[in-house]
Amino acid sequence: MIKPDTIDKIFDAARIEEVVGDFVTLKKRGVNMLGLCPFHNEKTPSFTVSPAKGIFKCFGCGKGGNAVNFIMEHEHFSYPEALKYLANKYSIEVEEEKPTVEQQEAMDEKESLFNLTAFAQKHFEETLHNTEEGKAIGMSYFKERGFTTETIKKFGLGYSLNTWDDFTMKALKHGYKKDLLEKSSLVRTKDHETYDAFRARVTFPIHNLSGRVLGFGARILTQDKKKPKYINTAESEIYHKSKVLYGLYFAKSAIVKEDNCYLTEGYTDVISLHQAGIENVIASSGTSLTIEQIKLIRRYTTNITLLFDGDPAGIKAAFRGIDMILEEGMNVRIVLFPDGEDPDSYARNYRPAEVKEFIGKNAHDFITFKTNLLLEETQNDPIKKAALIKEIALSISQIPEPIARTLYVQKSSDMLEIDEKLLMAEINKQRKERFRKKASDTSSREERRWEPEETEIITGKQLEKGIHIDNQEKELIRLLLLYNDQEITFTAEDENGQMKEFSYRIDEYIVDEIVDDEITFDNTICQKIFDEFARSRNENQWLSVQHFFHHQEPAISSLAIDLTSSQYLLSDQWENKHRIYVKKEEDDTKKIVTEVLYALKLKKLEKKIHENKELLQGEKDDEKIFVHLENLRQLESIKTLIAKELSRIVTQ
Ligand code: CTP
Ligand code: MN
Repeated sequence: MIKPDTIDKIFDAARIEEVVGDFVTLKKRGVNMLGLCPFHNEKTPSFTVSPAKGIFKCFGCGKGGNAVNFIMEHEHFSYPEALKYLANKYSIEVEEEKPTVEQQEAMDEKESLFNLTAFAQKHFEETLHNTEEGKAIGMSYFKERGFTTETIKKFGLGYSLNTWDDFTMKALKHGYKKDLLEKSSLVRTKDHETYDAFRARVTFPIHNLSGRVLGFGARILTQDKKKPKYINTAESEIYHKSKVLYGLYFAKSAIVKEDNCYLTEGYTDVISLHQAGIENVIASSGTSLTIEQIKLIRRYTTNITLLFDGDPAGIKAAFRGIDMILEEGMNVRIVLFPDGEDPDSYARNYRPAEVKEFIGKNAHDFITFKTNLLLEETQNDPIKKAALIKEIALSISQIPEPIARTLYVQKSSDMLEIDEKLLMAEINKQRKERFRKKASDTSSREERRWEPEETEIITGKQLEKGIHIDNQEKELIRLLLLYNDQEITFTAEDENGQMKEFSYRIDEYIVDEIVDDEITFDNTICQKIFDEFARSRNENQWLSVQHFFHHQEPAISSLAIDLTSSQYLLSDQWENKHRIYVKKEEDDTKKIVTEVLYALKLKKLEKKIHENKELLQGEKDDEKIFVHLENLRQLESIKTLIAKELSRIVTQ
C-alpha cells in the first residue's frame, strides 16, 4: 500500500508531456501537443496531449486519461505498478503504508505462496539441468520433442524426480511450513503422510503478467493410461485457473505488436510455436475460454486466431465459446491444421517460414468458417437449412459493431443462398430477445455492455432504457464536471409569498435535486463522482474538474477525462462552428442542466414503474397487489408532473 502522500507527490511531479513523450513523438500544436496514437494504428495524428491540463486524449480511438492512466494503458501495468514506474522516473521515494493485521496476514500468505512457488520452480529447473535422472529422463524427453536449451531456459521448464518426497524434504528443510506446502498443492497429505504431488514428471511453470510463477502443469513421461497426462496446480490464493492464460507473459508484447493473438490448446503448442518465431501465442490449457480470459486478451488486441487440430467434433463443441468472444467485440479467425497435426507437431515438422505461411493462408474468419462447415452437413435439406440459418444468425447477432454485422450478413447470405433480409430479420429477433432478457434482469447493476445501437435492428421501449439511463447519467456528470462553478437563477416564491430570484451554484443545485429525489446512479463510476460532489457540498467545499482529472482512482479519472476532454482540449483551437457550439452551451447552462436533470429523473421513474409492474405481475396476495397498485398510481402521477416540467423546459 503506497502512502497517499507519496501518491500525491507522484501526481504532482508527473508531467504528461514527458511521460507520454517517452513513448510517442509529440509536436507542438497551439497550446496542445499532437502525435500518433500508440493505442491504435493511424497515419495522421489525432493523439492530443494537454500539458496545461495534464491529460491526453485520442480523437481517433477515444482513449484518454492522465499520466498514470497512460502508463497503465501503455505498459499494461496495474495502478500501483504505474505509480512505482512514475516514482522511479521522477526519483520519488515510495513510502508504503503499514497494512492492517488482516491485510498483512492475507498479504503474507499470498507472498509466502509466491515465494514457495518460485522456490519450487527453481528446484525443478535445477533437477532437470543438474541431476543424473533429470538429464537422462527429463532433458532427453524435451530434446526429443525438439525443444532447444534456449527454449527450455526461457520457459523455465523443469523435472521432478521419481521419488516420494524429494521436493517436500527440500522445502521443509528450507523452512517452509507443512501447512503452506499443502496450500500450494505441490505437496499432498494422505493418512498423515506427506508426499510430492509431481513425481517423474516434467514441469511447465505458469506465469502471471509480471512474470511471477503461479503454478505448474506437470506432464507424465510414460504411456500409462491409468494416470492423468497432466497434473496441474489446484486453485489457490495466487492461482486462479479461469483468470490465467498460459504463455501470456512471454507473448504480450508480440500480441500488441502483431495486433493479433494466437490461441492454442496446450503448453507444448505455445512453446513450439515460440521456438518457430511465432511469439504472439498463448494457450487456454485444454478448456474453453472464460470471460475473464477473453477480457485479458482484449487488453492487448481485439484480434484472436484460434488454432485447432483437424477434428470437426472438437471445433463444433467450441462454437458456443467462440460466440462469447464475438460478444466482446473481438474479431475471431480460425486455422484448421491438417488431420493428425496440431500446432506443436506442425511446428516440429515444418520450417518456421512454412509454419507462418500455413497459418497466414489458412486463417478464415469465424462466421465464414462456421457457415461453410455447417453448410457441408445440410446438403440442401430444408429443415436442416432453417436450423443452420438460426445458428449463423446466433453468432452474427453477438457482434456488437453494427457495420461488422452488416458485412457478415452480406457474406453469409451469399454463401447460404438466401435473401439478406431474411438473415437480418432473424438476427434482429435474436438480439431483441436477448436484450429483453438482459434489460429485465435488474439484479445486475453492472454497466450494460450490450448496447443495441442500430435503430433498424432494435426498436421498442425496453431496449432504450438500458442505454439511455447510462447516457443520461453520464451527461449529467459531464455537466457537473464542466459547469459546476457557474451560477443559475430561478424565480420562485419566498416565505412571504413574494416572487424572488434565487441563485444556485450548479453543483449545489444538481446535488440537492438528486439527493432530494433519492436518485442513485446505475453506473458505479458516475455514482462515485457524484458522491464526491455531494460530500464537498456538505463540507462547503468546491471541487474542480482538475480534481477528477488527477483522481487517484483510475476509472474515475478516465471517465472524467472522457466526458469532458473534447471541450477542454479543443475549445481553444477548434473550428469556429464548434467553438460556437461550446460557447452556446456555456451560455445556456441553465436550460441544459435542468433538461438533462429532468430527463434523467423521468428515466429513473420509468424504470421504477417498470420494476413495479413486474412485481405486480408476479404477486398473488390481494393485499400486496393493492399496495403495488397504489405505488404505481403515485409514481405515474409524479411521472406526469416531471414530463410536463420537462416539456416546458425543452420548449422554453
Ligand atoms: N490438459 C490437462 N490435463 C490433462 C490433459 C490435458 O490439463 N489430463 C491440458 C494441458 O494444459 C495440455 C492441454 O490440455 O497442454 C492440451 O492437451 P494435450 O493436447 O493432450 O496436451 P499437450 O500439452 O499438447 O501434450 P502432448 O503434445 O505432449 O500430447
Ligand atoms: Mn499436443
